[in-house]
This record gives sequence, structure tokens and C-alpha cells, in this order.
Amino acid sequence: MKKLIKLTGNKTELILLVIPSKFPEIIYWGKKLSLTSTEEAQFIEYSELPVPQAFLDDEQYLTIFPLLGNGAFQLNAFSGSRGQQSWAPQFRQLTYREASSGSLEIDARDEIAGLQLTIKLELNNWDILEQEITLTNIVNDSYQLNELFISLALPAKVNEMIQFHGRWIHEFQQQRSLINQPCYLVENLKGRTSNDNPPLLICGSNGFSHQAGEVYAFHLGWSGNHAYKLSMVSDGRKLVQFGEKFLPGEMTLSSGATYTSPKLYATYSDGGLNQLSHNFHAFIRESGRFAKHKRSYRPIHINTWEAMYFEHNQEMLFKLVYKAASLGIERFVLDDGWFNGRNHERAGLGDWFVDKNKYPNGLTPLIEQVKKSGMELGLWFEPEMVNPDSELFRKHPDWVLHLAGYQQPLGRYQYVLNLAHPEAYSYIKTCMVDLLNQYDIAYIKWDMNRDLVQPGNSLGYSGVHDQVLATYRLMDELNQLFPRLEIESCASGGARVDLGILRYTNRVWTSDCNDPVERQSIQEGFSYFFPPELMGSHFGPEQAHTTNRLNTLEYRILTAFFANLGFEQNLLELTAYECTQLKTYIDLYKKYRSLIHRGDFIWLDTLDPGQKIYGVISADKTQALFAVAQNGFPVNQVSSKLMIPYLDESKNYRVKLLNSQENTGYLMKKSVPLCNGELLLSGKVIANLGIQLPIMHPQSILLIAFTSN
Ligand code: GLA
Repeated sequence: MKKLIKLTGNKTELILLVIPSKFPEIIYWGKKLSLTSTEEAQFIEYSELPVPQAFLDDEQYLTIFPLLGNGAFQLNAFSGSRGQQSWAPQFRQLTYREASSGSLEIDARDEIAGLQLTIKLELNNWDILEQEITLTNIVNDSYQLNELFISLALPAKVNEMIQFHGRWIHEFQQQRSLINQPCYLVENLKGRTSNDNPPLLICGSNGFSHQAGEVYAFHLGWSGNHAYKLSMVSDGRKLVQFGEKFLPGEMTLSSGATYTSPKLYATYSDGGLNQLSHNFHAFIRESGRFAKHKRSYRPIHINTWEAMYFEHNQEMLFKLVYKAASLGIERFVLDDGWFNGRNHERAGLGDWFVDKNKYPNGLTPLIEQVKKSGMELGLWFEPEMVNPDSELFRKHPDWVLHLAGYQQPLGRYQYVLNLAHPEAYSYIKTCMVDLLNQYDIAYIKWDMNRDLVQPGNSLGYSGVHDQVLATYRLMDELNQLFPRLEIESCASGGARVDLGILRYTNRVWTSDCNDPVERQSIQEGFSYFFPPELMGSHFGPEQAHTTNRLNTLEYRILTAFFANLGFEQNLLELTAYECTQLKTYIDLYKKYRSLIHRGDFIWLDTLDPGQKIYGVISADKTQALFAVAQNGFPVNQVSSKLMIPYLDESKNYRVKLLNSQENTGYLMKKSVPLCNGELLLSGKVIANLGIQLPIMHPQSILLIAFTSN
């Protein structure tokens, strides 16, 4: 007998049609419908599908686990074999367990293939659909799993998508296109989440925007290899499938062994991209599934990398500590260069001992100074890596991921340590634990700077999956041992940002690019899935190190504002005037920090491709802070009006431009009221008539506060 199972979230609902002896089919995923039982019965009665000529004789349902063995062909979600057998299982004997109104587990078995499967679905209170699949080999012979995709069907009206791509210093770039090809396949084989093809996808109805449209977002919480497919189904629907990508032979299940897929997180919004990111942000902030920051606020950083690279000059370091503290900076992160032999990028990784040439008395004097100045210390590590020029490699060349007989290629002059090797793991853990015991280190910047090539373990098997789990385990164990420790996930910038690693890490380094022009687009892509407080964003030098572009102080600091703010330049080079300006902005940031880190993050649709408008609004809508970023040359001669439909229309707001006066003159003979003092406007006027903006220079930002009481 067919029946419906409904998973209900807060505002959304997923409805599955249960079909005898088949996996169920998603027939609806959208805003809550609350169908009556009569309506359900009506649907079921007429739910038969047509069977076309020249096709299989059975009705072909688009199930949540389409299988080659059931005639799903290119939509197949599973591939594996036992030698030359058991390669097209069907999985019958389905049983359903509805744990609560939002969650469902489906068990299925294939006795012929000797496999047991469980699909878990949960539509949680934040309207995030979480799904994972577990596969167990139930016979006495090993089973080779090649592919296991989590599959979600979308309605036919979904016809546009945003894919995410990028490269070093250019992460989270968006590629928007029409869905008009039979299949899109994206694979990441880099051994880390990657900045080329991160596991993120957004699909939506025609013309969806920040503020409007129906949209679905998908994210696989995994920090290794992955793949996703987007297929057009013959009835016009779209099928999205995500899974871990295995290298040949990598997932061999011995008798009784189980594989659990990474979780796919997905959400539906009928309020454009804004509602979608609201769902993800609230889930990350409130669900308790991801690492929380452990202070009452997220401290402002100074990071030494672009300030001094490998030149850890003691005098300069101490001066930097004083300067940072005098500006109100709260955490001092000692980046790469502090450990044995690390005078350049070709040596030292793996030798995690404080370099006595640079730090004759260890890190204690620096830490004391940092603490005396009211800050805490963070320390850079790259635990999964080793330089050939290191004591570690000289002693244990066999600890690196490699394939015997081949020359393992170098990446940034380094190899990848096989963390799943018990002795390598214990060596790295001991080094880190010793340092964390010896010194008062509040924070680790955990870096990972190369892709994995021929990542074979000591048996010559692919070790990517095990490497990811070993990394998670090490982070987890350090978190347990040092409950106040916070960890940042960095991988040459943002190449390891995902909800897998975020279970153990408290901040991510979004990009090595501190040029605000580039940062504006990097941060936009990031923001759809991850809330701003997780994002490290640093004020860099006037001439950006990664692009050579020149930017004003105000554009640099305000671009880093809607984030966990940091500084990454030699502050000793700043003029007294620049320091005064920065101090003002730092104080302003502290004033608005809790709003930025807790408020609802909003993007506004703009017609000018060079302009981005975004902001945060407090839950009770009494406070808001918006940025109008003019990144490129304005398309129009006269600027547009700022209209924000997300405030409370029944409230009055005091609207104040927070930029320093000298930065708002721009190209105007006559300025606008916003630049000349506080305005008083109702939420209704702001939403529907708007506030006249000034004409802006390219590479400038306005920061506007809204207060109602
Ligand atoms: C990577 C990181 C940088 C910095 C350097 C140090 O590139 O992304 O922020 O830590 O390594 O080597």
C-alpha cells in the first residue's frame, strides 16, 4: 500500500511517497503544507505514473536511492562489487522508522549482494535537511564500494544554479547558469575540501535573487574528496546527488564492516538566498553540532604572517605586541616561522619544537608580553605536513603518503604525513600536546597547504578517507584535552571550509587575499552557507601583497568588518594619523561586534554589478548595520536609493552614516542628507521609498547604522 511520510521542520516540509518494495520518492519539498488526511489520500489515489513506450514496463519512480539494479541508469546512486559479482544490488526488505516528526530511518537489505543499508533523513528545526547513508557488508567476503550518492529530487521549475569554484586567493567564486544540459558532474580529488570545487551548490527557480525566489542549497560536510551530480530527469525534474569520492580500492569493506557517508546538509527557501543563508546560519549557530567559540566574544586578531613572514625578529615582535594592544587588538597569532629550521618554506615542517635561534628563551617571554598587554596567544601549525628538509623526514621518510616506486611530487616543498599511521599520529599529537602544556596557547591556526597526489598508505592503499578521519580525531582529542583551546581551519586560505571540519574548529581563514576588492566577492560566496563570525577577515597593507592593488584604509577595514576582524600587516609602518583612524574603527567594531556576530545577515539585490549591499539586523529589529560597498565604477551617474525591506515597518529608525566625514565627499557638488547628519525615518519609508545614497568612488564603502528604541 502506498502512503505518505511527512518530515516537518520549522517552516518547511518534505513529503515522501512510500511505494511497496521500492525506496520512497520525494514528491514535495517546500514551505509547510500541512495536508489533511483526505488530501493525502487524494494524492495517493491518483499517484500512478504513465509508462512510456519503448521503456521498461514498470512505473519508474525517482526514488531517494536510484539504483542501476532497478533501471535508474545514469541517476544511479550506488556502485560497488564483490570481485565480479554483486555489482547491481536492488535492496529490498525495506523497513521504516519514524523517530520524530522530523526524522526517518529506512533500512534495506540485499541478501543476494550481502549488503545492508540505512538511509537517515532529518528535517531539523532550522529547516536543514540532514541526510546520511550507512552501508554494511553482511557476508564473509570483502566488498568494494565505489560510489554512494545521497540523492535529492527537485521540482521541474528549478532551472538555474549557482556553482562555486575558485583557486588560491580567489575562493568562493560563483558561477550562475541555466540548468540546460543532461548532467553536470563535479569532482574534487584534491584530498581536501578544495577551493576549486567546494561541495556547495545552489539551485533555484527562474531569476532567483538575494531577496526573492525559491531556492535550494546543498553542502556536503566533508573535508576530503567528493563529487556531485546534477541531472535532468526525463519528466523535467532535477536530481542532485552528493557523495564522498573514493580513489580506486579506497573503500573496501571487510566482512561486517560499515561505511557511513558524510552528511549532506540541504535547505529550501522561498525568500531567495537570504532565507537560505538564514537557515544555514541559524543551524550552525544554534544546533550545538559545530564547535562554538569559547570566549564571551570573538577576539580581534593580529596575525604576523604578512607583517614579517619568516623573519621573526624579537625586537619587532615585541613592538608589534605593544602596537597591537594599543589599538585594542585582543589576540596575537604567531604565524609560520617559529619552529626549528623554519627560515623559509623549504624546511622545518614536522619539527614542532620552538626554534632556539629565534626564541632563545622559548615562547615564554613573548607570551608574557602578550598577556601583560591584555591579549592571548595563537600559534600556527601545519600538523599534516613535512618538509623533506626536516629531522622528522630524515628519521621517518616512510611516514609520508606516497606510492612505493614512484617519486612523490612536492607541493609547496612539502609532503603529506600519513596521519592514519599510528606512530606518525602519536608523534604529531605529542609535539602539539607538549607545546600546549608548556605554554599558554589559546588558539591554533591549523594550516594545510597542499593537495594530495598518489596518497598511498604503508600498504599502498589510498589513504585519503583515513587521513580526513585522523585529522578530525586529532582535532577532537586536542579539544578534549584543552577545553579552552580554539582552532582555526586554514588551507592556503579557504581550501578547507566545510561543516565536517567545523565540528572541531571555531574559525576559518577564508582566503590569503586581503585585498578588499577580491575579498568582497570571496566573502559573498562564503556568506550563503556560513555565518560572518566564523570568517577570519583581515585588514591588510595599503598595497595588497597578493594583488598589488592599492586600497584606502577605510575600504580595507570596513571590508573586514562583517566578520571576525583581524589585522595582517606590519602595524609599525602605520602613521600616527592612520593609527588614530584605525583605533576609531576598532572601537566601532567592538560596539557592533555582537550585532554582527549574532544578527540576521542580509544581502540586498542591486542593479549595479560593481555594488554590493549587505548588513545585519538584530532579531528584534531594533538595530541594524549595513554596508554599501562600491567595488567597481558606478554604472549610473546619480546613485540609487537604499531600500531595506527587512526592518520593522512600524518602527522609527535613527539612521547614521558611521564613516569618517572626510571620506564621504566623493564626486558631488552637493552632497546628500545622509552624509550630513543623522536621519529619522520609519521602517516603511526605508523599505518602500528608500534613503538617497551619495555618489561613491569605486573601492569605497559606506557603513550605516539603524537604531530604533
Ligand atoms: C598559508 C596560510 C597563510 C600563512 C602561510 C604560512 O598560506 O594560508 O595564512 O599562514 O600559509 O606559511
